[in-house]
Amino acid sequence: MADARDGDAQLAVDRGSPVEGALFREALRHHGGGVAVVTVAAAEGPRGFTVTSLTAASLHPPLLSFYVNHDSRSWSALKAADQIGVHLLGAGHRDLAALFARRGADRFAPPTRWRSGPGGVPLLADATIRIVCARREVVPVGDHFLVVGEVLGVERNGPGGDPLLYAHGEFGRWMPIGEAPGTPIDELDLADRVEW
Ligand SMILES: Cc1cc2nc3c(=O)[nH]c(=O)nc-3n(C[C@H](O)[C@H](O)[C@H](O)COP(=O)(O)O)c2cc1C
Repeated sequence: MADARDGDAQLAVDRGSPVEGALFREALRHHGGGVAVVTVAAAEGPRGFTVTSLTAASLHPPLLSFYVNHDSRSWSALKAADQIGVHLLGAGHRDLAALFARRGADRFAPPTRWRSGPGGVPLLADATIRIVCARREVVPVGDHFLVVGEVLGVERNGPGGDPLLYAHGEFGRWMPIGEAPGTPIDELDLADRVEW
């Protein structure tokens, strides 16, 4: 199993030879990401899958983006869809996130609660935030497609709550760093914080 090495001195690179996939994957386990579910309507029924690749791409105009694997069975539905549902999940939605990543699962059968939204896009009733976007661009990037959507509408489900996160191969919940044990809030330099 590939292992990250300690110390800058050993970070040798060769432009003609990208890093081994296993080492790249292991490094990315240290990158925490928010968890979302992307949905689309398809002729054979609703489709959806879990992503951590969701990014706020632009505020003016409001654009978001995510990556979908070439091999994803949701891809054929996604490339044909005009509108896309994006659902931001909370700490209580671990099972929903796991279900929407499980191959062969009937993701829209009970206990999943959903309804058809604008343009028939499937909207998950339990998600913290529901977003409907229009598909704007699809760019092939390596073994994924980058999908860019223009945000048409946002709906909040109640007061919100802590987002669901994924890191080290596990789901977890967000905790403000000031509340983390051993990190007194007055040691953090928040003075120059940018509102984003
Ligand atoms: C936490 C987590 C994050 C994921 N993020 C992505 C992602 O950003 N893009 C992607 O294509 N697949 C991602 N996946 C994998 C898909 O959810 C999964 O492969 C997909 O649902 C396979 O089913 P499908 O072929 O029916 O689409 C992720 C899985 C998990 C558990």
